[in-house]
Amino acid sequence: MEENRVSEKIRILISEDEIEKRICEMGKEISEFYQGEPVHLVSVLKGGVFFTCELAKRLSVPVSIDFMSVSSYGNGTKSSGVVKVVKDLDEAIEGKHVLVVEDIVDSGRTLSYLLDNLKSRKPKSLHLCTLLDKPDRRVTDVQVDFTGFAIPDEFVVGYGLDYMQHYRNLPYIGIVDLDA
Ligand code: IMP
Ligand code: MG
Repeated sequence: MEENRVSEKIRILISEDEIEKRICEMGKEISEFYQGEPVHLVSVLKGGVFFTCELAKRLSVPVSIDFMSVSSYGNGTKSSGVVKVVKDLDEAIEGKHVLVVEDIVDSGRTLSYLLDNLKSRKPKSLHLCTLLDKPDRRVTDVQVDFTGFAIPDEFVVGYGLDYMQHYRNLPYIGIVDLDA
């Protein structure tokens, strides 16, 4: 049935059901990790927002949420490693248990910059959670503490991820066939 909703250029890689099931598991794992302590989610705009909302609903520890937007000066689908803060956090994170929530870790350059930036603000702890990880693409070493799915080196969309700002709203993760 789900096949009918897919345009001819996108192949389902991870279904809506699989994603929901995995986020449920991650919610339990992360709640156990924080042992009742409040966690401050730093959601990375725009892609991380869909995952952040679903994950937040599955956490049994007290949750607060803030948003940050960074852009990397790059050409097309390649990031350069030079990162600019487009929208900073509204609140200070000093003394808080901070969990950065991202859609995908690719080269790791954006996250590496972001984590260094947040670390300098003296949070009580700083961890990283990502829905997707493309380990084969890593250029900069980044410690990912919680991963939804490790995926192959393919360009994917949906569940927050875009191709030229399209497809973020797809409820599944799909591979874009750029040659179609
Ligand atoms: P990094 O700095 O190379 O790790 O870049 C991470 C950012 O690149 C992510 O936050 C996404 O916005 C974007 N990105 C990387 N891979 C994909 C993909 O397969 N689909 C959509 N966006 C991607
Ligand atoms: Mg992103």
